[in-house]
Amino acid sequence: MLDLLIFNATLPDGSTNMSVGIKDGIFALVDEGQRPDAREALDAEGQLLSPPFVDSHFHMDATLSLGMPRLNASGTLLEGIGLWGELKPLLTQEGLVERALRYCDLAVSRGLLAIRSHVDTSDPRLLTVEAMIEVREKVKPYLDLQLVAFPQDGYLRAPGAAQSLERALDMGVDVVGGIPHFERSMADGAASVEALCRIAADRGLPVDMHCDESDDPLSRHIETLAQQTLRFGLQGRVAGSHLTSMHSMDNYYVSKLIPLIAEAQINAIANPLINITLQGRHDSYPKRRGQTRVPELMDAGVNVAFGHDCVMDPWYSLGSGDMLEVASMALHVGQMTSRDAMRRCFDAVTVNAAKAMGLENYGIKTGNRADLVLLQAADPIEAIRLRANRLVVIRKGQIISRTEPHVASLSLPGRPETVNAAEYVPGGGTP
Ligand code: FE2
Repeated sequence: MLDLLIFNATLPDGSTNMSVGIKDGIFALVDEGQRPDAREALDAEGQLLSPPFVDSHFHMDATLSLGMPRLNASGTLLEGIGLWGELKPLLTQEGLVERALRYCDLAVSRGLLAIRSHVDTSDPRLLTVEAMIEVREKVKPYLDLQLVAFPQDGYLRAPGAAQSLERALDMGVDVVGGIPHFERSMADGAASVEALCRIAADRGLPVDMHCDESDDPLSRHIETLAQQTLRFGLQGRVAGSHLTSMHSMDNYYVSKLIPLIAEAQINAIANPLINITLQGRHDSYPKRRGQTRVPELMDAGVNVAFGHDCVMDPWYSLGSGDMLEVASMALHVGQMTSRDAMRRCFDAVTVNAAKAMGLENYGIKTGNRADLVLLQAADPIEAIRLRANRLVVIRKGQIISRTEPHVASLSLPGRPETVNAAEYVPGGGTP
């Protein structure tokens, strides 16, 4: 007998009247219209049942620190980095853990069950690393937290950064990070990419670099990252995060670059909320958007994911833990308004992000771990449009979060009765 059966569900691929059965925390049945015996049964009422949201780019050590010790007045990336530098000596392990756990609670309520977080390794005390490893253990029952050793002040630029990064990896950090555009020169940036890819190859680890987070069209470290990926045989294990300079690059150069990124099987991670607010700050009008070339990368077969990047920290004073907000911003900034493109934006915060993180057993398929979110929406497009309510969040077959359906009462002119607006939501759908 199944432990839990969810029936009458719509899946992200558009299949309807689907039954999803769970036994011992694993998907035991995914089929149309089946109603086998189960200890507990849940009628999805035709609403969207999705694998959980995945955030492939975040900064858990900085989250919820807004205003400590002051606000970012210019709103730029560089003031954000400076402000984080002011905050670092004031950090305590207790405070870091407390804020991160608070954020993870919010994430779970939003159906966000896997996060890749960069962790600043610049401070040789490595307080941030110790704290985030503690958080990774604490949240393990309900959230997959992957950590990236991130030399925020530059791998070659900051004294001792190389040693601190290696120590962080020795402590059990999962992924090698980098920030080549913040090194002192293009040559140092390229040298840092080579050194960090070599470390990843030697240790058998993935790579995820902040890469070309700049409006400078000549910031081309992604080319070096792709080249070194091929050289060290790291295909499929490397992510380029941000890639905002690609927005401003010469089109002819990009026509050569994108096939190289595809050949190296680099995962491209855009961070739409942050890119649209931090980039273009030196422009008057027209102002560049700064989001990387998402549809073009997708069309070339590159795996593209969207990250949240920041929530209430020195770089971004907003954010909600809602990956549908992230997808919506990417959709608007990238003008991805065709039906197919909007569905691909949903993929970028679910399956594509899981692939970028190398998550195993992800997705609604028999034998995979039974992680799910039931959304108050008819399909992925409606989910993005409404930032759909997360009715039920399931981890390893257990319901770990529930939210009551949104209900709003409307009195429409010419209609005497009060209408329950929630009736419009699942039934309205999208063609
Ligand atoms: Fe970042």
